[in-house]
Amino acid sequence: MRIRQHVNPNQLHFARFRGERPPLDDRQVEVEIGCAEAQFLFERAAQDPSRLYVGLEIREDLVTLVNKRARALNAPVHAVFCQAQIHATEIFPEGSVDRVFVNFPDPWFKRRHHDRRMVDDTLADGISHMLRPGGDLFVQSDVWDLALDSMTTFDPDERFDNVAGEWTFWRAGNPYGVRSWREQNAEETGLPIWRILYRRR
Ligand SMILES: C[S@@+](CC[C@H](N)C(=O)[O-])C[C@H]1O[C@@H](n2cnc3c(N)ncnc32)[C@H](O)[C@@H]1O
Repeated sequence: MRIRQHVNPNQLHFARFRGERPPLDDRQVEVEIGCAEAQFLFERAAQDPSRLYVGLEIREDLVTLVNKRARALNAPVHAVFCQAQIHATEIFPEGSVDRVFVNFPDPWFKRRHHDRRMVDDTLADGISHMLRPGGDLFVQSDVWDLALDSMTTFDPDERFDNVAGEWTFWRAGNPYGVRSWREQNAEETGLPIWRILYRRR
């Protein structure tokens, strides 16, 4: 299957939610925003299959691929086709999520494309809506600008506490015991990775 590398999240046809909501029940829920093939979530699910792992993804082909794989493996992973900034509050009831991961958001390096970047105040509203008090928000990137952008979004936001201390990166490595595809790639090619761990107030 040919999968598009990038889509413009600001296109009008993404405005209406057309995805399938995740099967929320009494399980703990972990969410990766921009999950791509969801390597991170499948590995989390293998570690602890008692939770539900939800990936939000704007590329519809990838959503189909992830859900097919989840069915084949009988894994508790569910991808949702959406534009995360616009639809996060529609997908999850308030405080229904235990952990949110933003692993290696697309950099959109060209200045004229900066408005396509995913981490912004609207996404912060969506995350603070879905995350329960005390829940984790973990952000990581190998692009300094994006790491800094994320800190500039979440650090001044009173709904989140930076666990390492204000305006401080998380230096203890990824505490979750699995790696996203981009993370694995960055580590294997020796790129620096900036990580930040927040807790919802
Ligand atoms: C660079 S990839 C990282 C994939 C994975 N998290 C990893 O670390 O390997 C970023 C992913 O976010 C998705 N994405 C970008 N903007 C999005 C948005 N507004 N809503 C949902 N997904 C988005 C892209 O389609 C892409 O799959």
